[in-house]
Amino acid sequence: MNVDRMEKCLLNYRFSEEEGFLYGFNLYAMLNGKDVMLIDTAFRSQAKQVKKDLTSKGLRLTHVLVTHFHPDHVAGLIALDPEITVLGSPEYKKTLTKDIPQRVTPVSFSEGFQFGEFTLSFTPAPGHSACSILIDINGKYLHAGDNLMSRYDGNAILPWVEYHELANHISSLEMLKRMKRVRIILSHGPELSGEEEIIRAIDDRLSYLKAVLNSAGRCSWVEAISGCSCNYTGREFFEQLLAESVN
Ligand SMILES: [Fe+2]
Repeated sequence: MNVDRMEKCLLNYRFSEEEGFLYGFNLYAMLNGKDVMLIDTAFRSQAKQVKKDLTSKGLRLTHVLVTHFHPDHVAGLIALDPEITVLGSPEYKKTLTKDIPQRVTPVSFSEGFQFGEFTLSFTPAPGHSACSILIDINGKYLHAGDNLMSRYDGNAILPWVEYHELANHISSLEMLKRMKRVRIILSHGPELSGEEEIIRAIDDRLSYLKAVLNSAGRCSWVEAISGCSCNYTGREFFEQLLAESVN
């Protein structure tokens, strides 16, 4: 685990890919005095390590803000205090498959949330999951959850999406592109910075997703990635999409 202090009150806990795993994890901690809001928990092991580090710094975890409710983002809640405030999309029940000890407080897409010096606002971005949200932090960073994923060496990870959600994932990425952000942080992989890098990353995913959708899942791998400037890892996600398309 590495801890980067991005700003006085903003920490990035980074867990690089373990051997055999496709992706690592970023957990962001926003500090408000001694209280901490964490964005996502990853699995139990990562949540425990972050909690231990925060405790060693005299801080206490009071809030968890969830980008979406897939297990690699919320399973760590099991290792945390049941009294913690968990914030996430009003659509969380569509994705959450296991019981967690905390009650989920739905975020408001019109009013946002204030936590110390952090002004947070939320935008629904369904596709990767029904409950995916984009999180704006002080107008400076945009957390895109798993709308974009990569490895820490910068290699892009193929978008993960169920076949029937392809059009939604495309719409959410097009919305993200229109936002013209210059600092995008992710749950998996390093920050993307600069308009050019961000637009290229989004266009690569869009090209792949549209190739699969427009062919109704009947394209080859070479055809699917022919418009992309990157080399993807995670080809198994493509095989899964093709299998779903015939059902
Ligand atoms: Fe994920």
